[in-house]
Amino acid sequence: MPTTEEIPMASPIGRDTPRIDGPLKVSGTAHYASDFHFPGLLYAVPVEATIANGRIRQLDTTAAEKMPGVRAILHRANIGKIFRSSLGEGMEGICIERRPPLVDDVIRYYGQYVALAVADTFEAAKAAADAVRVTYDKNKPNVESQLKADDDPPVVATTYGTEKRLQSERGDAEAAFASAPVKLDQTYATPSETHNPIELQGTTAMWDGAKLTIYEESQAIFNMRSVLAQMFGLPQENVRVITKFVGSGFGSKLWPWTHCPLAAAAARKLGKPVKLVLSRKMMFQSVGHRAHTQQRVRLGATPEGKLVSLQQDYAYERSMLDDYHENCGEATSFQYSVPNLRVHFGRAKRNIGSPSDMRGPGAVPGLYATESAMNELADQLKIDPVQLRVLNEPKIDEGLKIPFSSRHYLECLQVGAEKFGWSQRNPEVGSMKRDGLTLGWGMAGAAWVAARFAAAANVELRDDGTARVACGTQDIGTGTYTILAQLTADKTGVPVDKVEVVLGDTSLPEGPVSGGSMATGSVVPAVFDAADNAAKSLMTLATTTAGSPFEKNEPDDLAFESGRVFVKANGPAGGIPFADILRRANVRFVTGSGESKATFEKKKPKFSTHSFGCHFVEVTWQPEIARLRVNRVVTVIDAGRIINPLAGRNQIEGAVVMGIGMALLEHTTYDPQNGAPINSNLADYIVAVNADAPSIDVHFLGYPDKVINPVGARGIGEIGLAGVAAAITAATYHATGVRVRALPIKIEDLLTSSILA
Ligand code: MOS
Repeated sequence: MPTTEEIPMASPIGRDTPRIDGPLKVSGTAHYASDFHFPGLLYAVPVEATIANGRIRQLDTTAAEKMPGVRAILHRANIGKIFRSSLGEGMEGICIERRPPLVDDVIRYYGQYVALAVADTFEAAKAAADAVRVTYDKNKPNVESQLKADDDPPVVATTYGTEKRLQSERGDAEAAFASAPVKLDQTYATPSETHNPIELQGTTAMWDGAKLTIYEESQAIFNMRSVLAQMFGLPQENVRVITKFVGSGFGSKLWPWTHCPLAAAAARKLGKPVKLVLSRKMMFQSVGHRAHTQQRVRLGATPEGKLVSLQQDYAYERSMLDDYHENCGEATSFQYSVPNLRVHFGRAKRNIGSPSDMRGPGAVPGLYATESAMNELADQLKIDPVQLRVLNEPKIDEGLKIPFSSRHYLECLQVGAEKFGWSQRNPEVGSMKRDGLTLGWGMAGAAWVAARFAAAANVELRDDGTARVACGTQDIGTGTYTILAQLTADKTGVPVDKVEVVLGDTSLPEGPVSGGSMATGSVVPAVFDAADNAAKSLMTLATTTAGSPFEKNEPDDLAFESGRVFVKANGPAGGIPFADILRRANVRFVTGSGESKATFEKKKPKFSTHSFGCHFVEVTWQPEIARLRVNRVVTVIDAGRIINPLAGRNQIEGAVVMGIGMALLEHTTYDPQNGAPINSNLADYIVAVNADAPSIDVHFLGYPDKVINPVGARGIGEIGLAGVAAAITAATYHATGVRVRALPIKIEDLLTSSILA
């Protein structure tokens, strides 16, 4: 285990720290984006297309316009110009559905906005939206769930830049598979899943001359500023995006969706602030979802269990309008040692809303397939699945041919197996019983990328002994406010509860996206740099203030530690609290700015940077009533040093519960007739809730990864979801004898169990 000696005992880093924003949230005083109210505010409700493929024949707004309280019915002919945005340098201006709203008459998916009712109240706007009469020339939508890849070129444009469809290749995977003594060839499918953050998406937009202000629950305010500036032809400095709290996003709030420019265009047209909040139904149609995937995995191995060939051919759905890339091959090329490998993808266009990033995009469906294949291969070889992974542990990242910055996957497996009691497992299907229930035990591995976005921050030390840290990043419910307080407290000696944290505003220094599990890792160096620079300002002040005890010193003679300035040569004992120095100088605060660069922009990285983990799962199976429950999960995570273990465990527990939803419940279903997501509400789209949550034992290894940042912290938002579904399907097989290769596991799948009573 790593030592903690590098972090001083008094540091809050690595300590369980309750969320500093908790009291605001539980008392209802935290203002989420749609909680803001403004004088003269108008309400907007979009009119949704009720077909998924065709054209608007006629849009009749006569009745709607005459309704009480209605200010306008906006549509293509009267909303005003909205430009198309494009991707800039350094991935600036990411947007998945780039076609501006209401730009033409073509309907590409059910729920596409065709008009916007604006009124004095939400109820009046809703009634008017319902009263808009739209007729269509309708074609049959393509929502076919069998995915046959479209005829795309070898290199395709995606939302984030170009991708080779032959994603990764080494050796001769086909030949090695053909001659392998042991073969596995299976296809795994994951369904469309919809993010269901409790906070609905929405925009409140207002103009002051040529300046646009947006309140939106964004996971990436600076990206949103960039896209909106482009859509309205404005200089970036004329757009301000404010996001104080986010009621979770899971990726759906990463990039701007069309409701946002619609609200802004309505506010421009009517000269009033406009609020547009989506319904839960709209959340299923027009703000992204996890793409349905089909993945053929072929493994070749020796009888002893050494992999000789790995092939992953995957296809995913996308919309008619997007270039979103569901990167199921993310972890494939490095997770196991194999000399011959081929990862290839294809895409299939459908008349659905655009898919987008959803917690652990790419890797989560990808690892479901590859880890399931590993489990099936282990059963075929009669080798323990943990042992199969141990046998195929790579020494380096064999895809990039560079070392890992910090990989402790084997220790994850060992610790997990021990905590779970894996050695007691009898591999025979249906053989393990407890209290009249059949037990199933399964496991799977996890990986998720670790990297840093560019970040800037500002730290102030104030004359009352408090500090302020400002960073234009977001807290999406994961604990970013608290992390920034901990980092600032560590560097300044100001207690966590005396640090004011200001986030979520593009008028602040540019902070990272709350995505890719990268926000925490990205802010560390920027906040440290800012705190160091604030300390430098303080030491300069200490040596230049008349009557200061340090008047005779040079700034370089001084040090700042645990909130005190002292002469290095004399040691910290005679230090003066920084507040005393500020008060003596009649200075309210000293300030420091800091910044750090992105790590992933490096062309030739020296290290392969990822987090790792594994899950051990126990399901209980009652064959008499075909009842399957996830009863117990042990999860071990290797994600660098954990800054706040309290919030960290909470992230992993939440991810495991989401994994139960993925394995057993979640599935967005499209109506073959009109292309509508049928189960577009929280009664019919079932997510795992408290009652589904098993006992979850989360363990962090805690090895610092200094390649990522000086604290050694990688990210933890997504890794906990990777692999869960594969462990659950393996445990389900162990209990029932039924292999489910298309998620979610349904009761009817299990009715074929040979051990039904
Ligand atoms: Mo995450 S899908 O990067 O919000």
